[in-house]
Amino acid sequence: MILAPSILSADMAKLGDEVQRAERGGASLVHVDVMDGHFVPNLTVGPAVVAALKRSTTLPLDVHLMIENADRYVDAFADAGAQWMSVHLEALPHLERTIAHLRSRGVRPGVALNPSTPIALLDEILPELDYVLVMSVNPGFGGQHFLPRSLDKIQRLARVIRDRGLTTQIEVDGGIGPGNARSLVEAGAEVLVAGSAIFGQGDVESAARRLVEACL
Ligand code: DX5
Ligand code: ZN
Repeated sequence: MILAPSILSADMAKLGDEVQRAERGGASLVHVDVMDGHFVPNLTVGPAVVAALKRSTTLPLDVHLMIENADRYVDAFADAGAQWMSVHLEALPHLERTIAHLRSRGVRPGVALNPSTPIALLDEILPELDYVLVMSVNPGFGGQHFLPRSLDKIQRLARVIRDRGLTTQIEVDGGIGPGNARSLVEAGAEVLVAGSAIFGQGDVESAARRLVEACL
């Protein structure tokens, strides 16, 4: 299991520290939520924050783009040091081109799916992806409740990946905590994103460790 703390819920004034604490608790990827106020009703950070994080951690950075016109910005995030990048299927008409471009930049490409987007829409693009990001909340905000139907979606996607002989990883994002982390891994998820369950809990390091231990 790869634990990816989402910095959305971190203390932005102490971002470098917060990420280092999560790393000591067992996190091995840093999830950065980029929102544009159009695709989702919230605004967050851009490439400058990714570049600053790059200087303060050796963990790989996983940039989740919840934005329109992602093609216009992917190079800026790649230049800033993003090693994983996911784009939303719902926001891009020429997904194959976007994914090929990310790969040409040496970025691990992923596609993110909103809760209401069926996995069948991945049929053609799946072999091109390093990972699929299954949203288990409607994107835009931290601290929402896990949508229970997501578990079955992960199981079905894991089956498709296995049946097609692919190695695509499944990442899950939204409403994850010590109470459901293990069931997600058992369903086939390899990467768990957690924001509010890690940050804003007081002790970031122990909160991360609790999540890792919940999956053992
Ligand atoms: C939501 C973001 C998530 C968010 C998760 O749109 O994509 O990464 O930070 O937050 P929690 O873990 O609090 O649900
Ligand atoms: Zn996210």
